[in-house]
Amino acid sequence: MASTQVPDSDVKDLKLAAAGRKRIEWAEREMPVLRLIRERFGRERPLEGTKLVACCHITTETANLARALKAAGVDAVLIASNPLSTQDDVAAALVIEYGVPVYAIKGESTETYHRHVRMALDHVPDVIIDDGSDVIATAVRERPELIESLVGSTEETTTGLVRLRALEKGGRMTWPAIAVNDAQTKHFFDNRYGTGQSTLDGVIRATNILLAGRTMVVVGYGWCGKGVAMRGRGMGANVVVCEIDPIRAIEAVMDGFRVMPMAEAAPLGDIFITVTGNRHVIDGKHFASMHDGAIVANSGHFDVELNLVALAEMSEAREELRPFVEEYKVKASGNRIIVLGEGRLINLAAAEGHPASVMDMSFANQALSCEYLVKNQGKLSPGIHLLPQEVDNEIASLKLEAMGIKIDKLTAEMHEYMSSWETGTQ
Ligand SMILES: NC(=O)c1ccc[n+]([C@@H]2O[C@H](COP(=O)([O-])OP(=O)(O)OC[C@H]3O[C@@H](n4cnc5c(N)ncnc54)[C@H](O)[C@@H]3O)[C@@H](O)[C@H]2O)c1
Repeated sequence: MASTQVPDSDVKDLKLAAAGRKRIEWAEREMPVLRLIRERFGRERPLEGTKLVACCHITTETANLARALKAAGVDAVLIASNPLSTQDDVAAALVIEYGVPVYAIKGESTETYHRHVRMALDHVPDVIIDDGSDVIATAVRERPELIESLVGSTEETTTGLVRLRALEKGGRMTWPAIAVNDAQTKHFFDNRYGTGQSTLDGVIRATNILLAGRTMVVVGYGWCGKGVAMRGRGMGANVVVCEIDPIRAIEAVMDGFRVMPMAEAAPLGDIFITVTGNRHVIDGKHFASMHDGAIVANSGHFDVELNLVALAEMSEAREELRPFVEEYKVKASGNRIIVLGEGRLINLAAAEGHPASVMDMSFANQALSCEYLVKNQGKLSPGIHLLPQEVDNEIASLKLEAMGIKIDKLTAEMHEYMSSWETGTQ
């Protein structure tokens, strides 16, 4: 039932709310673990009165996280963690149907994006759910008084943790933060299977190209890159991997992929996908050696992986061919380079982000992290924390149960053997 009082918002069109609600409920069917948490939260209200800012991709799955947090008693404001990742119908439904203030519009300018971050900080949060650490970085820079009163924060993604670790190293972390990304039930599944599938979904929805028989260059063989490479191969692409880490490079070789430097891969690739969390991994010199019609996309957190400024400078013309598909015509060669989704994460720009089933575990971690921070207020040291291993195990067990899959349990004999040192060769 729609909430009676419409909260403050800055969304595209509140009339999209009914359509958004249908999609949110569709996603909820695939989120049984979060549903169980929401039901318990509704009974126990563990976050009654907690003021919270969530900076996430405004998707159907995030809406279900917001519902769980609301059931727990949270007073939440939601903003987008990327200017292109908002689903406008979901933003409208959150406001109208679920009574959650949202400041997020798909395609908002960088200025509007940062204005929304500042508007959210005016909510004076006790807890911040961050995805990429833009809210935390803004608070550290501009609103130190908010940091002083912060109960804690959570961080959803690899890149956000890079920034938190830099703050910690510089002695700037004065609050506890939960590294949600580092939970096994998050990055093993979300980064690998979620990004693997949804990145290709974004590339395909934007272009409608056939992957079979194409050379796909995957830049970065971390959790996300492994997923993209695996799924690309599954659809018949010849996958080439570029890495800078020797261990991950060997892993890619032994997983059966060709591995080479970006300079060698650039002229070979038909499709390039970056998932490194690093800057300018495809640079001007690489664009210069790509063949006519090469397609380039990014699925790393920030739009810094492709040096599009260099590409623009090398180009004599730019044209939008279809939504999220822009062609750059390189002056020197006349070659056309196709850039998808302005170099922002393509799975959220051109598709719908990760499937709900995988976000079920990521957002179970988020919901339980908020509860953990509030329950342990004043007891956690400043710095980056992991959720206890039992919580990870519990989320995995609930997911298996929801999937109808049973597994064996350790017998007392096995348990004793696994905890002893006496028994060896017999
Ligand atoms: N699109 C999404 O929905 C989504 C989901 C999860 C994570 N992410 C983001 O994707 C990025 C990667 O995340 P991850 O969890 O796979 O990180 P990761 O640290 O596991 O992997 C990144 C890999 O990139 C490699 N790398 C770094 N610089 C490189 C370069 N110049 N050339 C080649 N390889 C390079 C690193 O050695 C590492 O192996 C991050 O920005 C993360 O925040 C996006």
